[in-house]
Amino acid sequence: MKNIILYSSKSGNTEKVASSISSELNAIQFNIRNLTDNEMKDFWKNNQADIYWIGSGVYGGCFDKEICKFLDQYLPPDDAPLALFATWLGRGDSANQAFQKLEDQLLNRSQQIKILKPYFTCYGRTLFFRWSHPSSEDLKNAREWAKTLEGKMS
Ligand SMILES: Cc1cc2nc3c(=O)[nH]c(=O)nc-3n(C[C@H](O)[C@H](O)[C@H](O)COP(=O)(O)O)c2cc1C
Repeated sequence: MKNIILYSSKSGNTEKVASSISSELNAIQFNIRNLTDNEMKDFWKNNQADIYWIGSGVYGGCFDKEICKFLDQYLPPDDAPLALFATWLGRGDSANQAFQKLEDQLLNRSQQIKILKPYFTCYGRTLFFRWSHPSSEDLKNAREWAKTLEGKMS
């Protein structure tokens, strides 16, 4: 099964999770911030996969705006499901809000897009909080989540 991971990570937390999933699934991973305009334009055509794994830190109860903007401008194909993951600080219900907003954004554009459940979250460190995260336990949980979701699809 071909897996592609597309993530945004400002301080490296989500990148750790993406790399952990990537090693489990033999996936190719892309940091949205490293893609050129041309690479973005042809991203879905040039990177076909059976499952796309989309991850971000939670910022103000949303996925990072770079990834939201990209997914709005270049709609993912209907025929490959999306698996969403996020790192966060644990503020209120903001991770659930972020997932819900992205799901609404995508489904508003196409009712056919398939979004896999459950989502995956773990804590990510900031300057003053959650210093030990994502921990090795978090990364193990991410790998297990990914393996289980992939297994359901095969
Ligand atoms: C400006 C800013 C806004 C944030 N907003 C939230 C938030 O709404 N909820 C939350 O739980 N964490 C919030 N965080 C914490 C980040 O989601 C967390 O550090 C995450 O792991 C960052 O991931 P990244 O390094 O992969 O970008 C915020 C952090 C910053 C710097």
